[in-house]
Amino acid sequence: MYDSSAKDPLPGSSFSKTVELSPRLQTVADLIPSCETVVDVGSDHGKLGVWCLRSEICKNVIATDIHELPAKRTEALLEENDMSDRSRVLVTDGLSGVDLNKEMTVVIAGMGGLEICKILSEAKSRLDGIPEGMKMVLQPQRSFHEVRSFLCENGFIIRQERIAKEKKYFYTVILVEYTGASYGLSEAERFLGPVILSKKPEYYEEYMKHQKAVMESRALGDPRCKEILNTWEKWL
Ligand SMILES: C[S@@+](CC[C@H](N)C(=O)[O-])C[C@H]1O[C@@H](n2cnc3c(N)ncnc32)[C@H](O)[C@@H]1O
Repeated sequence: MYDSSAKDPLPGSSFSKTVELSPRLQTVADLIPSCETVVDVGSDHGKLGVWCLRSEICKNVIATDIHELPAKRTEALLEENDMSDRSRVLVTDGLSGVDLNKEMTVVIAGMGGLEICKILSEAKSRLDGIPEGMKMVLQPQRSFHEVRSFLCENGFIIRQERIAKEKKYFYTVILVEYTGASYGLSEAERFLGPVILSKKPEYYEEYMKHQKAVMESRALGDPRCKEILNTWEKWL
């Protein structure tokens, strides 16, 4: 249970325990706007929720996980950090059982892109739907074209994108806002990210080099990749 009127624990209490986020998860955390409640979907270890409460990015956390064991792990970490009164942990599929409101930011990180689309699609098709203006931070592990296609076709506007690098792997993190109005994205934007291409965030050059190799390996079977490769210089 959480109590939105709960006060911060005293300095020097277990509140000061450290939770280190990996570079990937830190990039996710850095894109979360200040809000009333962070909903961490697929919380697993629970570190993100603890980090959010500790950095006072939000007042409350709702963590969900489809499996009991990670949900228990999350609950234990929140408890260890004296944060049980400001958090709630649910064993549930995606956002089922969470009453969404505009003051929430939903985070879905470390999951397959198609699973992320499924979770958002189910939330959107509920009777009360997704409130306009609600923000979401998404970090799909794969299926980037499918995720961005889903976002633009279903009224989730892409506000920011970042690249994270952890060991030799790259991750993309997307901050979206639900407006309900669909819009268009080019094939290149769907694969590589409209904000990544226009703003060239940290790791851009390395990321694009890696993506070029990915495109080259897919180009034979996918004419869209071949077409993007034909105008690759445009993005450098
Ligand atoms: C790889 S972990 C990612 C954990 C954390 N979000 C991160 O980025 O480090 C994925 C977690 O999502 C949970 N999960 C997978 N599908 C889910 C769904 N539909 N709803 C809620 N949780 C889900 C899994 O049980 C697992 O704990």
